[in-house]
Amino acid sequence: MKKLLTPGMLLFFMLPIIQLMSQQPQTDVFTVIHERKSVRQYTDQSVPAEKVETMLRAAMAAPTARNLQPWQFFVITNRQVLDQLAGELPYAKMLSQAPMAIVVAGDTQKGNPNDEQVLNWALDCSAATQNLLLAAEALGLGAVWTGVYPYKARVAAVSNALKLPPHIIPLNVIPIGYPLMDDQPKDKWDAEKVKWVE
Ligand SMILES: Cc1cc2nc3c(=O)[nH]c(=O)nc-3n(C[C@H](O)[C@H](O)[C@H](O)COP(=O)(O)O)c2cc1C
Repeated sequence: MKKLLTPGMLLFFMLPIIQLMSQQPQTDVFTVIHERKSVRQYTDQSVPAEKVETMLRAAMAAPTARNLQPWQFFVITNRQVLDQLAGELPYAKMLSQAPMAIVVAGDTQKGNPNDEQVLNWALDCSAATQNLLLAAEALGLGAVWTGVYPYKARVAAVSNALKLPPHIIPLNVIPIGYPLMDDQPKDKWDAEKVKWVE
């Protein structure tokens, strides 16, 4: 009998279905936390504005010292800017393939700039970044935190590309898109890193 479907044909038909299924939003918090992984390869599909807002709302729901919310978010869809950053940031080459990126930056004029408390901007922006990454995972998107602060040359490159004033410091650049591959999360559980104080 003539074979109707070869394995290659089956994969061809199944791939869009698998991709569509992986784009379905997940809501269980533990599933999302444990499924999150750095995604560095994307399709060329653009990310809808509603999903961008959902990620930013999640980011801004993060806790901050004295509730100062010392952050700004730069949503980059401009191809030239994405390519410029890909060229200048040593570990963010994937920006040249990503349809967009978000830069999380700290505003060092929030609070008292002469008090050591001002250093909390990086912690606050990190909490926002993790929320954003979890939201991306929940929305079926792929994203990765690429480091900018505290590397002086990277901070200068991003500040220059976005024309940031000196009191706005970029913490990271997060390329975001629909995952090209089926990336898997790492299991990092290590009981030896837990010390109970009883
Ligand atoms: C502060 C920070 C800086 C990072 N910088 C980069 C980077 O420049 N480029 C990159 O590809 N990944 C970067 N990562 C992602 C890590 O490589 C990644 O989180 C780690 O390998 C664990 O993998 P996972 O995110 O899939 O769990 C960074 C992550 C953090 C938290």
